[in-house]
Amino acid sequence: MRPKRLSVIDNFRLDAPFATEFRRLLHKLQQNKSETELKSVMITSAMLSEGKSTVCAYLGITAAVHKGIKTLIIDCDLRRPTMHKLFVLGRKHGMTEILREGFSPRDAVKKTSVDKLDVITCGEYYQEPTELFDVEAIGTLVDDMKFYYDLILVDAAPALPVSDPMLLAPKMDGTLLVVKAGATQKEIALRALDIIDPLRQKVLGVVLNNMDNALPYYHDYRYYGYEYRTKSTQQKIAERARDRRRGRGKNDKSGSRTDPTRSHQQ
Ligand SMILES: Nc1ncnc2c1ncn2[C@@H]1O[C@H](COP(=O)(O)OP(=O)(O)OP(=O)(O)O)[C@@H](O)[C@H]1O
Ligand SMILES: [Mg+2]
Repeated sequence: MRPKRLSVIDNFRLDAPFATEFRRLLHKLQQNKSETELKSVMITSAMLSEGKSTVCAYLGITAAVHKGIKTLIIDCDLRRPTMHKLFVLGRKHGMTEILREGFSPRDAVKKTSVDKLDVITCGEYYQEPTELFDVEAIGTLVDDMKFYYDLILVDAAPALPVSDPMLLAPKMDGTLLVVKAGATQKEIALRALDIIDPLRQKVLGVVLNNMDNALPYYHDYRYYGYEYRTKSTQQKIAERARDRRRGRGKNDKSGSRTDPTRSHQQ
């Protein structure tokens, strides 16, 4: 028997450090909301593989699980779609069918195992995504969906290689730019912002992904002086044993285990 494929929902733990970051992000978005209507948010990045879809999926789960916000994720990256994979849903009957065949968006909505989180997947593979990308139709779809959902997250293609996000940005209430820490160059990120929204009217901010790579001890709670509450006793015992093996006593507070400069000196 083939093992069941796990979805992002199965990997989501409310007590994980990254879940805290998504709650912070959601909180910031909600603060923004008090000033202007913020129901539709496009998520893009400058280049490929910076974490757009991952951020979109986890932000959607956070909104639905943590705040009970009725959330819809729309996979508008028709070139490299992933939402159907992340949520382990059927790919067909999604955006391609809506845009090509006039398939009903309400019928395209797929339920996830999270009560208040639904997804519209990319739909069947179509060779010419540029031809398919009808920005007026997508804008209308997003606006119509505001009647049923309180938050609509649109996973878009990257801004530099293709024009989709630039065209879509004016149709959305706001845009988040995902930046991969330690990888995306500043000039590239700024260029993406200039393309999407030169006057910065709808850019809500930047999501810094991959922080662990840039700041290895960012999520090490011991670094901040307290241990993570849900850490099991077994884990703590193993960590202390590892410390002892590395010759660091209980009272040695001169550096964090994950301090890269320190390990080089050893
Ligand atoms: N913070 C992270 N830590 C570890 N892996 C990550 C992180 N963010 C994303 N990834 C992984 O990096 C890969 C690319 O992420 P993702 O698909 O979200 O990027 P993307 O910007 O949507 O890419 P594309 O341009 O192909 O649409 C995936 O395998 C994802 O699981
Ligand atoms: Mg993606």
